[in-house]
Amino acid sequence: MRIFSGIQPTGALHIGNYLGAIKQFLELQEKEDCVFCVVDLHAMTAPYQASALPRNVLDAAVCYLASGIDPEKSILFVQSHVPEHTELAWILNCVTPVGDLLRMTQYKEKSRQFQKDLNAGLLNYPILMAADILLYQTEVVPVGQDQQQHVELARTIARQFNKRFGEVFVEPKTKLTKEGAKIMSLSDPRKKMSKSIPGSCLYLFDEPDQIKEKIMAAITDTGREIKYDPTKKPGIANLLIIYSLLSETPIPKIEKKFRTKGYSDFKKALAQVVIDTLEPFRKKHKELAQREVYVKEILSQGAKKARSIAQSTMEEVRKKTGLV
Ligand code: TYM
Repeated sequence: MRIFSGIQPTGALHIGNYLGAIKQFLELQEKEDCVFCVVDLHAMTAPYQASALPRNVLDAAVCYLASGIDPEKSILFVQSHVPEHTELAWILNCVTPVGDLLRMTQYKEKSRQFQKDLNAGLLNYPILMAADILLYQTEVVPVGQDQQQHVELARTIARQFNKRFGEVFVEPKTKLTKEGAKIMSLSDPRKKMSKSIPGSCLYLFDEPDQIKEKIMAAITDTGREIKYDPTKKPGIANLLIIYSLLSETPIPKIEKKFRTKGYSDFKKALAQVVIDTLEPFRKKHKELAQREVYVKEILSQGAKKARSIAQSTMEEVRKKTGLV
């Protein structure tokens, strides 16, 4: 089964990226045919510094590898290294109704945020994402909840294209994790943990002291009971999910363990769980950050493999759309 997913090179990965997306990638790469991408072209839709992009792309690749993506098992590459992504995106532009793009939740939020500097790339973002997915005849796309709507649009676009030009694309399905699909902010547990709000994040490669400090300062709720109740106690519920997923312990068992304890004891124990679980990632990240040549070679090999799949899809697309 073909799997595809992508991550933007826009700064350090946080525990939401890990629990919502990467943890699924690690399981899938053991048995499926996986393609993972650093989506640098998507990162251009928000204001950015051109001189910083190469470093950020390399850092994102290091993050993938440090968190366990194995280049022997999966294809890892950079989106702009395979020009078929932009070529297909243009063609898909011509089968996608503007109305479908205007109703995307992420577009609505971002267009409010970038009111003065609103570029067309931000509106067309999901089309490039559909091109990423459809180029590889992807069946399953593991993502966090915030990307579900975009994957569904990719599915609609595939269907529309196939109907108009004949069968070329597989209709992809979204894969969400049961519990980690939407990890909430540490500073405001009613909002999503997001790279664009740094105070909200627990990063995958934070040092033990930072982890302790951030968890002890995480916003919790009134009361003192350690109980999973996302409506009344969103702060504690979010921390329970993180504890449960990282330690692979069911939530009721954690509630029982802390029945007679307060928030402070629970947070101390959670900090230790996070520190211990992320220790191997931190180690590997430090090691790989020194091995730039090796990481670039992985990306170059990855682009070659990705390109041969992408080219064969594009050949079919060109034929079907009359571009001969
Ligand atoms: P990005 O870079 O914002 O996020 C990478 C992955 O992390 C997930 N995620 C979360 N999951 C749980 N809780 C959170 N708080 C949280 N925050 C982020 C995201 O859902 C995502 O799976 N547009 C995509 C990248 C992309 C892509 C693709 C994904 C480009 N092309 C094709 C899949 C297929 C994005 O910006 O992800």
